[in-house]
Amino acid sequence: MVGTRSQEALPVLPVPIDRSRSNAYFNRMSKLEIIKIPDPILREASAPVETVDENVRRLMDDMLETMYDAPGVGLAAIQVGIPKRVIVLDVAGDEDEPQPLFMANPKIVRLGEPMRMHEEGCLSIPSVHVEIERPAEVTVQYVDRDGAEQELVADGLLATAVQHEIDHLDGKLIIDFLSRLKRDIIIRKFKKQQRPASV
Ligand code: NI
Repeated sequence: MVGTRSQEALPVLPVPIDRSRSNAYFNRMSKLEIIKIPDPILREASAPVETVDENVRRLMDDMLETMYDAPGVGLAAIQVGIPKRVIVLDVAGDEDEPQPLFMANPKIVRLGEPMRMHEEGCLSIPSVHVEIERPAEVTVQYVDRDGAEQELVADGLLATAVQHEIDHLDGKLIIDFLSRLKRDIIIRKFKKQQRPASV
């Protein structure tokens, strides 16, 4: 018999999911630089997007790739230096299929009663975590990657992440939930890191 190998004979290995493949535009995506504190741009309020055109879609795709690469579960456009109301999110676990969300002009229209505590990190404030209590369920309205208006009820980690990213669009950061003293200590630490080493 000439080598007809049975498919079943092949070992089934866990294949790591390549999240970049979840996006059809991967080939033209590029990684962007994530801005860190104390860069003052992170304190700017972002302006609404007028239309989700090719430029906005391109920005969304680049942001998604940047977020997956970091890795993180959410990213706001201001974190890559673009003061537009655009966020991307994916809170799927490492073993799950990617679930990217692209939101232009996201707006929370309903906050649930129960609260949820989460130790939040931020790609603009590496290795800092802040325990923050936020509503455990939120309803968010936004314009998706195709320019269609959407409404989504988010809970769990997604509810936390959506609120965190919308805060970015208003210039708000997780360190703002800390006392002034703790916040200043963190900012000072990042300022020091930024300073070029003297020789
Ligand atoms: Ni953040």
